[in-house]
Amino acid sequence: MDKIVYLDNAATTALDPMVLEAMIPYMTEFYGNPSSGYSIGRQTRRAIESARKQVADMLGVKPTNIFFTSGGTESNNTAISAALTDLGCTHIISSPIEHHAVLHTITHYCGDAKVTRSFVKLNASGEVDLHDLDEQLAERSAKGIKCLVSLMHANNEIGSLLNLTTVGEICERYAAIFHSDCVQTIGHYTLNFASSGVHFASASGHKFHGPKGTGILYVRDGINFTPFIHGGGQERKRRAGTENTHGIIGFTKALELAMENQVKDQAQIETLNKQMREKLNALSDEISFNSTAESLYTVLSVNFPTGTNTDLMLALLDRNGICASGGSACNTGETYGSHVIAALNKGLAGATIRFSFSKTTCAVDIDAAVEVLGKILEPVKAVDHSTAAIPAD
Ligand SMILES: Cc1ncc(COP(=O)(O)O)c(C=O)c1O
Repeated sequence: MDKIVYLDNAATTALDPMVLEAMIPYMTEFYGNPSSGYSIGRQTRRAIESARKQVADMLGVKPTNIFFTSGGTESNNTAISAALTDLGCTHIISSPIEHHAVLHTITHYCGDAKVTRSFVKLNASGEVDLHDLDEQLAERSAKGIKCLVSLMHANNEIGSLLNLTTVGEICERYAAIFHSDCVQTIGHYTLNFASSGVHFASASGHKFHGPKGTGILYVRDGINFTPFIHGGGQERKRRAGTENTHGIIGFTKALELAMENQVKDQAQIETLNKQMREKLNALSDEISFNSTAESLYTVLSVNFPTGTNTDLMLALLDRNGICASGGSACNTGETYGSHVIAALNKGLAGATIRFSFSKTTCAVDIDAAVEVLGKILEPVKAVDHSTAAIPAD
């Protein structure tokens, strides 16, 4: 295998060398604990607070609205826990295609009989039925039930998008708390949380060329919440644990680079996404797409013809150096298929594969992937999948 063609950027992205460069001094030279009162502690404290201000400026909010976390999963857990524990929400409205970091967290809290849940209806592209959301909120509000609405900004498998401002307005009408998992959009769009109507928003550094294990939770002004992680008084007593200083610096540098180059990177990625769609259309008229032209531009979710099998196709792609995903990367190794594709209810009888792109993707990557797909499509269809084992390398 000569070269790896990485088309799984919604799972994670490569660390930008400039991000690494910005992080290194905070692992070597500036190692003080930010809670220490002496000079080298104060130095890292200043770096963290300046990073917080930079992140806040980029998202149109105040530094006090930003809490550094270990990533999207922790931010989602913190927001959901805060809405139930501190803000009086007893019903959660979400969608069946949320990331497991939201879905499984909700299931956890619904084990307690005091908390109930419901899903909003989705259209065939996975977009939220706003009329249904409005009706569900109206019904609960009339009964005096306070709701948490947790809906992702962009779906990580198919790329369907949510209009944050419209959902924010609906939530406001019924005094509901609105949390959005923005893990796939922060760093890819210019966002202003002050005007978006969200109470909580989650982000993760490794989705835009930052380090893994870093993230933020945006919390709207006036929301007082108890910590999800208990211990020391870090993050203004809302998130215990010695700050991941180099991670925070890396997250901030990655967001800075993403925002500086957002327009250029989006144009490049959109072009590649469109090219791949066209080339796949030319390959077979039995290929269809779950992503639309309006979806998140980094994702292309492809349905292959009847008779193809996701696991076998992914294995053959991998053998040819192409990295892609059958659904969310977090599912790799699990035995069931994608809950997102299942929820679309399209009755697909073939493989579904997500290709996802970033600023590091180039046209030759698309050509290489389509060439391999062209070679494997017919042989895969010819295999009896009831008995087939994935061939070893
Ligand atoms: C939409 C979404 N939410 C949450 C997460 C989890 O983020 P993290 O890996 O930072 O915990 C992911 C990562 O796959 C994601 O795509």
